[in-house]
Amino acid sequence: MTTTETLPTPFPTERTVVVTGAASVRGIGRATADRLAGLGWSVAIVDINAEAARAAAADIALRHSVPAIGVGADIASEASVDAAVAQIETSLAPIVALVNLAGISSPTEFMDETVAGWERIFSVNMTGTFIVTQRVLRGMIQRRLGRIVSASSISAQRGGGTFSKVAYSASKAGIIGFTRGLAREMGQHGITVNCVSPGPVDTDIMGGTLTDERKNDLSADTLMGRVGTVTDIAALIAFLVGEDAGYITAATYDINGGLQIS
Ligand SMILES: NC(=O)c1ccc[n+]([C@@H]2O[C@H](COP(=O)([O-])OP(=O)(O)OC[C@H]3O[C@@H](n4cnc5c(N)ncnc54)[C@H](O)[C@@H]3O)[C@@H](O)[C@H]2O)c1
Repeated sequence: MTTTETLPTPFPTERTVVVTGAASVRGIGRATADRLAGLGWSVAIVDINAEAARAAAADIALRHSVPAIGVGADIASEASVDAAVAQIETSLAPIVALVNLAGISSPTEFMDETVAGWERIFSVNMTGTFIVTQRVLRGMIQRRLGRIVSASSISAQRGGGTFSKVAYSASKAGIIGFTRGLAREMGQHGITVNCVSPGPVDTDIMGGTLTDERKNDLSADTLMGRVGTVTDIAALIAFLVGEDAGYITAATYDINGGLQIS
């Protein structure tokens, strides 16, 4: 009997995940890199803060005994990303997963927004995600294997309401369209493309550490009575980049304690 089914490419034992925006000590990226290292992945951290990226990688390598490197790059710059990914490709095992977490926020209200401010948000959150993804996909397409996970936000679905305003919400809504369109093109290459859409999580992107008062305010409308933790988000991402998630693509995962229906 013949079949036209495409069998998935098995995961190699030695494989690398690239996590952008994973230098921040209290961030989602750092927690994700840490979790994946614990699952045996080699880890490459790409962050605009080069020194913190190298320190995070050194710490992860030490604690999990996996190869890890930290590379400084501005994801909004094609040349910077090209150099960073080239360095990763020559230093570590083949890249099987990319987690796009580098991002910036903005609390500027719409009538005070400027074209420069708007473009700054979009250049990192949207164009940066495009640049890194396109660069990493070259190798994934050749190897017929890949997992891409990017960060949208509850702000895209609810129109903010946490910290950032219109520019951020619009850029994160863009990630959902990016995910779906790219998934449509990449399925034929054995590559899945998904995004996660977290509710508020206590990280630096929220304008600094959340006070108890802000935490209470942000928790009030959730069904679980608390804000998210970086571990909550890292666990979901780790599943989505894993071998078992090969039939999940073009999906947006709400991870917000139920905030999407409240
Ligand atoms: N924290 C939340 O409540 C929340 C909710 C929904 C979505 N998100 C999204 O999750 C992702 C991770 O956010 P976080 O909360 O960990 O924030 P964070 O501020 O802790 O981490 C963001 C990281 O991105 C890096 N970065 C910023 N600009 C960059 C650039 N041009 N090039 C390379 N690196 C750059 C920063 O140095 C930092 O390490 C972001 O995309 C954010 O929009 C966060």
